[in-house]
Amino acid sequence: MLAIFTWLLGFCVAVFTSLTYFYGRRRKEGEPPLIKGWIPYVGKALQFGRDAHRFLTAHRDRHGDVFTVLIAGKYMTFVMDPVLYPSIIKHGKHLTFHEFSDTVPPVIFDFPRVRTPRFPELSNHIQKSYNFLKGENLSLLSETMVRNLLLVLRQDYLGLASEWRTDELHRFCCRVMFEVTFMTLYGKPPEGMRHGGIRTLREQFESFDAALPMLVAGIPISFLGSTKSARKELKAFLMPHNLASWVGPSRFIQHRAELFEQYHALEDADKAGHHFAILWASVGNTIPAAFWALYHLVTHPEALTAVRAEVRRVLGPFQQGAEPDQALAFSQEKMDGLLYMGSAIRESLRLSAASMNIRVAQDDFVLQLAQGYSVPVRRGDIIALYPQSIHMDPEIFEDPEAYQFDRFVEDGQEKKTFYKSGQKLKYFCMPFGSGSSKCPGRYLAMNEMKLFLALLLTYFDLEVLEDQARPGPDPSRAGLGILLPDTDVRFRYRLRPVSFDPC
Ligand code: HEM
Repeated sequence: MLAIFTWLLGFCVAVFTSLTYFYGRRRKEGEPPLIKGWIPYVGKALQFGRDAHRFLTAHRDRHGDVFTVLIAGKYMTFVMDPVLYPSIIKHGKHLTFHEFSDTVPPVIFDFPRVRTPRFPELSNHIQKSYNFLKGENLSLLSETMVRNLLLVLRQDYLGLASEWRTDELHRFCCRVMFEVTFMTLYGKPPEGMRHGGIRTLREQFESFDAALPMLVAGIPISFLGSTKSARKELKAFLMPHNLASWVGPSRFIQHRAELFEQYHALEDADKAGHHFAILWASVGNTIPAAFWALYHLVTHPEALTAVRAEVRRVLGPFQQGAEPDQALAFSQEKMDGLLYMGSAIRESLRLSAASMNIRVAQDDFVLQLAQGYSVPVRRGDIIALYPQSIHMDPEIFEDPEAYQFDRFVEDGQEKKTFYKSGQKLKYFCMPFGSGSSKCPGRYLAMNEMKLFLALLLTYFDLEVLEDQARPGPDPSRAGLGILLPDTDVRFRYRLRPVSFDPC
């Protein structure tokens, strides 16, 4: 009986596979090469998910710079040559980012789709709320961030570290960055709740975050163990009545909370879902980015010495204050003056960023890629840029696997000239995405990482323990942002004996 059933099942799968293969989508004249794989619907999803960078590079070598791949029911046209990127990024009318952003985050963070007549103009208002992450508001946020960084370091680390103490580097970054970012954006929870409250929140966040690639792949949350309850608890923290009791929320969050109140069709749980999406956006990438930046600095003595010296030179007054709370008076000018640190962070981002830039075709149209080079695109198809392939291109970045902290410095200024096929590139390092979907929190993220590194390098001696394996980027969340390390590393730290001598 079982044998007959197995045979029948196998037969059905074979028939379905052949039908899909022969009668599914066929490449039309002029369209890019089409790679469908043998498994209907799934297409090449498994190979792509295993190591997207390697998969795409191999197909580029075989098919050229533009090709279409079936991935989990979607036809995705990858454009691999960065010289062609501007033509995708500027194709506003035919290609939109919003179709993706209005479908995936609502399912993951659990709120209703925004672009519907139920919520008139909400999407525009949300886009405008990102102005609170720039200019004067950015300075206010960054000032609060310095205070919170000092508070967390002082309470949990500074007082205890006159002797060497050991910890795990990624966990350390996670604890510090989560708490600091959270308090900077949402304020401090009411007295008595701070430590336990935010720790619980972080633990739920870590549990949810671990399942993120599966959620993005469309696996229902009910199949993902404790992820659903983690999301429920996180959202409970972020309900409007809870948020209202926290002390000193940022203007950004206040503005959004007031905005949501104007939409009666939004339930409190929906508002919490929106806050949760921002919480994830603000820490999901910043934590691994801070890890890589710190790890690379600590394991490259030449870089560490140069960046420490720069911190001392540029943030002078900060080092003269003997007490941490008299520390750094924030100024954007000083942040921008940290040229080598900025380059070291960008270099770490280059090595660890694997976000995918997605646009969806609104209609059938001919995509003009360059003079005399165009490809027809079908409505609903996805056009994808995968910047990791340019970040690791030896023609653009010499010895691309190597960490060179000063790669983005030239003649005492930020280096912005990189070439491919003899042409100067407009886009060469894209950890924050591009065009209409470019990260609105990028200035805050850069300030946050600079402040984090400046304080750590100033107050602590830091060393990775000798027997530790070198961490590599874990490819499992390729396409989603900064890759996590595939293993954590133990390190030790202690207060610098002469706190303010950087060398
Ligand atoms: C190193 C840290 C960060 C990296 C690498 C990063 C990267 C990105 C990328 C690549 C996108 C575009 C996603 C896409 O094209 O689908 C994005 C979107 C976004 N990021 Fe960031 N981000 C970082 C930190 C932050 C921070 C600190 C915030 C603060 C609130 C933030 C807020 C956002 C928001 C709200 C969006 C969605 C924008 C929209 O839908 O229009 N990010 N980020």
